[in-house]
Amino acid sequence: MEWETLKAQCLACHNCGLCETRTNVVFGQGAEDAEVLFVGEGPGQSEDEQGLPFVGRSGQLLDKYLFAIDLDRKKNCYIANIVKCRPPQNRDPLPAESEACMPWLREQFRLLKPKIVVCLGRVAAQRMIRADFSVVREHGEFYNKNGILFMATYHPAALLRQPRSKPDAFADFLALREKIQEVCEHTY
Ligand code: URA
Repeated sequence: MEWETLKAQCLACHNCGLCETRTNVVFGQGAEDAEVLFVGEGPGQSEDEQGLPFVGRSGQLLDKYLFAIDLDRKKNCYIANIVKCRPPQNRDPLPAESEACMPWLREQFRLLKPKIVVCLGRVAAQRMIRADFSVVREHGEFYNKNGILFMATYHPAALLRQPRSKPDAFADFLALREKIQEVCEHTY
């Protein structure tokens, strides 16, 4: 299956109850040959309205961090979420909703073949790295899983609530830049 078909199928998804309350499915955005994949939790209100990931306040902060290490969602990275539809009141996705949505992310993974996956926040890190992953304790560390490097950092929304964690998050992005230089072929 190619990107266009995958996206069309995802936009018509009824695999869980979140389809009842969504305005738009937020499939993901970025370069279809990106070597670096960012994975968030799920759409918030702005994302639901626009159909694009990380376009609200936390998205603006994410774009600043990306810019600081020469990443651009339109050019050399890809942004997706664990769930593609907004959970009501921005609650955490239920395990059954994440489970129902994972096949879409798996297909995105298969098409992209990323070299590095950056989990934004606990929900993505616990789903993609380890069920008991602690962002506070383990952010910025790279984990090799079947030749793909996984790392987690603070969710930008958490940084807006707790600006004191921003230096740690920035250090994670600097470590990411080094790792990209080491293992990626055409990102920079
Ligand atoms: N938060 C997320 O986890 N994902 C988005 O796309 C927007 C906000």
